[in-house]
Amino acid sequence: MSVSPSVSAVSTPTQAELLDFVRRTAADAQLISSLPLDPEGRTWVRLEGPGGSEAWLIGWPPGTGTGWHDHAESVGAFVTASGELKENSLTARLPADGWKTLELTEGIDRERRLPAGKGRSFGQHHVHEVLNESTAEHAISVHAYYPPLPQIRRYSRTGHVLRLEHVERPEDWQ
Ligand SMILES: [Fe+2]
Repeated sequence: MSVSPSVSAVSTPTQAELLDFVRRTAADAQLISSLPLDPEGRTWVRLEGPGGSEAWLIGWPPGTGTGWHDHAESVGAFVTASGELKENSLTARLPADGWKTLELTEGIDRERRLPAGKGRSFGQHHVHEVLNESTAEHAISVHAYYPPLPQIRRYSRTGHVLRLEHVERPEDWQ
């Protein structure tokens, strides 16, 4: 008789499960309206994500954005709950380490408009920036990452050249 392998009680959340979580959370009107908004800058509240993931509710005043960054080895998902966000991302997978500047080839830029209810999931080393380009309206979004963010790499971009500027660790944002 074969013995079934013991399955750990904690299963690793998939990108699809993270996306499902951020969708359900974004549909919770009471939670979304509880986020304090500040016209001067982004606001955030940490949430409990599924399976030990790290989740955030984020408020974006008009004209704010993240700048180019990635979430290292974490996978994630986010969805706009109100207003509209834009995501600029790179479709090519970049080398994770061992470079300071990288010249990008043509045609790897991707733009997505994410009105309320729209979102996406992403894999490891997804390089992107998220912006609220509205001149008048706040945006609110829900994000989840697994494993909980070990680091965020921040880049500057000039034309096709991406430069690694610094690496943020959890103590920088918690
Ligand atoms: Fe991000």
